[in-house]
Amino acid sequence: MPDKLIQQQLLAARYGADQQPENIIWNTQIAGLIRHRSVRNFTDRPLPAGWLETLVAAAQSASTSSNLQQWSVVAVTEPSLKAQVRMLAAGDNGLANGYIEQAPAILLWIADLSRNHAITSADGLYPQVHDYLDTFLMSSVDAALAAQNATVAAESIGLGTVYIGAARNKAKELAELINLPERSYVVCGLLIGWPDDRHPGDIRPRLPQSVVAHHNRYQADDLDAQIDRYEAVFHAFREGLGMKDKTWKQAVQSAAVSLEYMDGRQNLRETLEKSGFGFK
Ligand SMILES: Cc1cc2nc3c(=O)[nH]c(=O)nc-3n(C[C@H](O)[C@H](O)[C@H](O)COP(=O)(O)O)c2cc1C
Repeated sequence: MPDKLIQQQLLAARYGADQQPENIIWNTQIAGLIRHRSVRNFTDRPLPAGWLETLVAAAQSASTSSNLQQWSVVAVTEPSLKAQVRMLAAGDNGLANGYIEQAPAILLWIADLSRNHAITSADGLYPQVHDYLDTFLMSSVDAALAAQNATVAAESIGLGTVYIGAARNKAKELAELINLPERSYVVCGLLIGWPDDRHPGDIRPRLPQSVVAHHNRYQADDLDAQIDRYEAVFHAFREGLGMKDKTWKQAVQSAAVSLEYMDGRQNLRETLEKSGFGFK
């Protein structure tokens, strides 16, 4: 298919046919990013040799605050351990995120102050900076950037991925399960596997660029009208997949008003404090 047509199709899927941004600079890397979709159905084909080394090299190539490299990753591939990770991320009804067991691997991305804490303390110094919220945030951002680089690398070789934020549902139990040291926690999981093409995920449309991108100063004057335009695209997407009718606003609201949505993550701060993170 000609490049221009691929570009049009991808942008139409991402924004809706009549709301595509213009002047997009195009190359294979940008096409790969715009083609992203989460994958929740995997085949049992084994992962290729070198998959982990490749993804970790991509992850380590992400920027990292002050080159402090305050993140780690645990690759869980043992089926019985993976089943336990799934149980911890399954939600109250035990049903959510069943695809964790289907995927050959879950990467657990860890904000990790333990290494640099030990390096500093070993010389009799007190790492007081680690007691501050900003350091927690720095290590969490580092872990997320590493995970996203791994995601992009995985997708570039045809592997499918989906993030598992539900890995924080029972953060304390998961930390124990995989032997995490103090001052570290799992920011999110990332499933890795070959997509099952019988159930491909679709490219999910996003908000119009004008909602999220601002020129020089933030402005949200026309928000309602722009969200309405997105609702039309969102509706068509769900209808196309035979999904229950729900507006995006309803999805936003149900994720905001009920602690049920948090599935245990409302206890995260307590778990992190016990593990040695500080929030000064
Ligand atoms: C940090 C993070 C956590 C997520 N956690 C989950 C999860 O626990 N289960 C799941 O099925 N999808 C999860 N997702 C995937 C999102 O639902 C998905 O990215 C979003 O619906 C947009 O779809 P797309 O990735 O296909 O574009 C997560 C995504 C992110 C970025």
